[in-house]
Amino acid sequence: MSYDISALRKFVSPEIVFGAGSRKAVANFASNFGARHVFLVSDPGVEKAGWVTEIVDILVTAGIRVTVFTGVSPNPKVDEVMAGAELYRSSECDVIVAIGGGSPMDCAKGIGIVSAHGRSILDFEGVDTITSPSPPMILIPTTAGTSADVSQFAIISDPDRRFKFSIISKAVVPDVALIDPEVTETMDAYLTACTGVDALVHAIEAFVSTGSGPLTDTNALEAIRLINRNLEPLVRNTADAHLREQIMLASMQAGLAFSNAILGAVHAMSHSLGGFLDLPHGLCNALLLEHVVAYNYTSAEERFRRVAEAMDIDTRGMSKPVIKQRLMERIVALKSAVGLEAKLAKLGVTTSDIPYLSGFALQDPCILTNPRKSSRRDVEVVYEEAL
Ligand SMILES: [Fe+2]
Repeated sequence: MSYDISALRKFVSPEIVFGAGSRKAVANFASNFGARHVFLVSDPGVEKAGWVTEIVDILVTAGIRVTVFTGVSPNPKVDEVMAGAELYRSSECDVIVAIGGGSPMDCAKGIGIVSAHGRSILDFEGVDTITSPSPPMILIPTTAGTSADVSQFAIISDPDRRFKFSIISKAVVPDVALIDPEVTETMDAYLTACTGVDALVHAIEAFVSTGSGPLTDTNALEAIRLINRNLEPLVRNTADAHLREQIMLASMQAGLAFSNAILGAVHAMSHSLGGFLDLPHGLCNALLLEHVVAYNYTSAEERFRRVAEAMDIDTRGMSKPVIKQRLMERIVALKSAVGLEAKLAKLGVTTSDIPYLSGFALQDPCILTNPRKSSRRDVEVVYEEAL
């Protein structure tokens, strides 16, 4: 496929340090921002794994005070963001560091927004709603998948509406991402599978997005290739440092791709599901993926052929229906091999929930870049197929 290269494309990214041990540069970067008092966001699981203590020690040794905030649950909630922002303010912190998966990182982004504006995080739902810059922010991801550390997305749950809302702005791209495969060693096989499939979905959705372009495509295709080859072996042997590094690299590339090309119906529908039932994000995506691919296929056949090639399917001489079938089979086989086979009904979704879920999915900004335009009935049918 060729591009109209006269079309303007922007590409935003934090300063990235990728590699084993990169987390140890946290004090240097904080000092460069003039930090005297760092606000460190994490969650109880990451703290238990020992990473919070290590980062605190590195910062304190460099003469920087630290206030730790671990009041973050999976799918970070509005009141957690507001509590964190209040502690940031009362502690007179000047730089935010987060270490953790998508939840602490998104919460940290929310705390930065609220600290800069002095208003509720609920006021910033949507695209380009931010008017004041957040405090300097350094993110250290402990999972290989969500890519909040490189993205211009923050996803916050509003329990009052049972709804996850998206904040999309280049103002939520952190200043620095320290992407260190060593800290993913505390992920178990199930979390590795959920976050790895999330990264695969990021790459596929970014590649078929109506916002894709040459700056995002290379990252997306390389991420698909790396995940296709390395995720199954990593889930079987989570101790393998080389495989962890490969999946971390894939996650970063998928993140750079989707941050700039945006996503599609899988994420719109999974945000709706995750807000309604407080389910793991990667699992929601995994259960929806092949159903959305089937729905979108005819709207982006050449793009999906290239996805199939990146998943090591030799499409030469194959008819379009055969390519589609082989791609679907590979996606289902990969999900099965990493243990993500459940159906939505098993997670507690019922037929009567589908109109409500579909209504919120259609309000999600990610639906706007899906390659096939979607009506409410279209979205309902895809949920029904995943039930
Ligand atoms: Fe995601």
